[in-house]
Amino acid sequence: MYSFWSSLLLGEHSFTGNPMATHIALSKNIPLTALEFSEWIQLFNATVDDLFEGEKANEAKIRAANIARLMLFKIEAASSI
Ligand code: HEM
Repeated sequence: MYSFWSSLLLGEHSFTGNPMATHIALSKNIPLTALEFSEWIQLFNATVDDLFEGEKANEAKIRAANIARLMLFKIEAASSI
């Protein structure tokens, strides 16, 4: 998780995982719908706001929301195959 966000926000290039594939696989075992993503985003934003402020904190929230939207789209597409 550290390397994911360091790569995204600080240009570290240390993350080698595949979060889309990980969450598509996860969604086969537990429901990952718009409801779960909405709760995830609320918790993520609240945690960022508790711990950080400034440009990078805002960028983290915007990028998390964009990735969550794409992830949900891909999960829905994968479940309709
Ligand atoms: C409902 C929403 C979500 C749930 C319930 C969830 C849950 C999880 C779980 C259980 C894992 C561990 C999977 C494993 O090790 O096999 C994981 C990994 C991870 N999640 Fe999520 N996640 C959610 C949304 C997101 C979003 C929106 C992001 C990115 C903005 C994210 C980023 C990651 C990353 C980077 C990993 C590590 C993946 C890897 O090592 O390849 N997650 N998540």
